[in-house]
Amino acid sequence: MTDFDAAVLDAEAERILRLNDRGGYTVPTEGLYPYQWNWDSAFAGLGFASFDIGRAWIELETLFSGQWENGMVPHILFHRTDPGYFPGPEVWGTEGALGRGDAPVPSSGISQPPVAASLAWRIYRADPHAGRGRLVALFPKLMAYHRWIMASRAESGAVAISHPWEAGRDNAPDWDEAMAGIEPVGVEPYTRRDTGHVDPRMRPTQADYDRYIWLVQFARDRRWDETAIAAESPFRVADPTLTFTALRSARDLMQAAREIGEDHGEIAEWVARLEEGAAGLWNPAIGAYDAKNLRTGNFAGSLSNASFLSWWGGLSDDRPRAALTRILDASEYALPSYDPAGPRFDALRYWRGPVWAVMNFMAASGMAEQGLAAEALRIRRDTARLIAENGFAEYFSPEDGTPAGGATFTWTAAVWLAWASPSRGEM
Ligand code: SER
Repeated sequence: MTDFDAAVLDAEAERILRLNDRGGYTVPTEGLYPYQWNWDSAFAGLGFASFDIGRAWIELETLFSGQWENGMVPHILFHRTDPGYFPGPEVWGTEGALGRGDAPVPSSGISQPPVAASLAWRIYRADPHAGRGRLVALFPKLMAYHRWIMASRAESGAVAISHPWEAGRDNAPDWDEAMAGIEPVGVEPYTRRDTGHVDPRMRPTQADYDRYIWLVQFARDRRWDETAIAAESPFRVADPTLTFTALRSARDLMQAAREIGEDHGEIAEWVARLEEGAAGLWNPAIGAYDAKNLRTGNFAGSLSNASFLSWWGGLSDDRPRAALTRILDASEYALPSYDPAGPRFDALRYWRGPVWAVMNFMAASGMAEQGLAAEALRIRRDTARLIAENGFAEYFSPEDGTPAGGATFTWTAAVWLAWASPSRGEM
């Protein structure tokens, strides 16, 4: 493995978390993402837990200060308006939606992969003494979040997204069919801000963006009413990211419930239902778990890094192993976000090829738990190498490690501190 000084990188990662701390919440990176994002923030909490446990809990508490009355935790909280990001709060128009007259914090109207419960459980275990009261206070909010997911998104058993941003994997090939079914007429004129911060070749295309905004307007026109959106939107895709992170979080919530003496019968039902739903995402044609368009019943045929979150979700299913071996053999740096041999692979374009440290962390941690020690170690070493050689970038080329997207990135730093750094244990 490349020669590097772990202590120097540990210090740099810590500096990045402090740098991106806006007081109670952490932005993913200055400029490109100037607000609090749901899963980025939960990962920030995990990173803080390695050196400041109190700050770790505050991150989650601030995230849940934006929870809607129906339990939904938005994907962006707009604590302080920043004109450098589009679409801002005025485009989402969530104020007053669903009777949220008192809108706790201005926010988007969609959610994101629910990793908060899993990471809260890890933060708790890092220091149970410091965390007990915090976990007890957060527990009912986490329950309300997952109750919302099960009631609003799990109609197929697997968890569906209503917008590509909800999966966190904005432009993954997983949504190509569903996105092609949208004719983006009536999109109000807008100016993208992302391509002013980052090379456009590393970002979603204009055709994708028009549809992202069309879908926001579609839901806004329905006042963010989940029932209407589920019934009428052309975009409804069962997603492995949401399904496996929800499954993992439910399992971790169950452990948390036992720890603090809460009932877990309801959670056990969620686990059973999600396991059944996850089974429906198995696509034999690619030998992997896949996204499924709920409007057509078609699989996406997309072998992605989310396909390999099944072990993180607690499934001991060995079937994806052959595809995993092929992907590891085909990648200089694992895990690519889309199959390098696939027709839609693009090494630098966001979720159509690049490697993402947070996905590596979840996928490899799950593999290690389920006995895939060599695969897990390979992914952890690759993650460490990518960061040591190229810095704390948002994502990296799986071919040569080229750093891409935003720099000094919160969740890359967090994953380094929590897992990838050799100072966290044997490599
Ligand atoms: N990832 C989206 C963006 O790039 C929003 O969640 O703005």
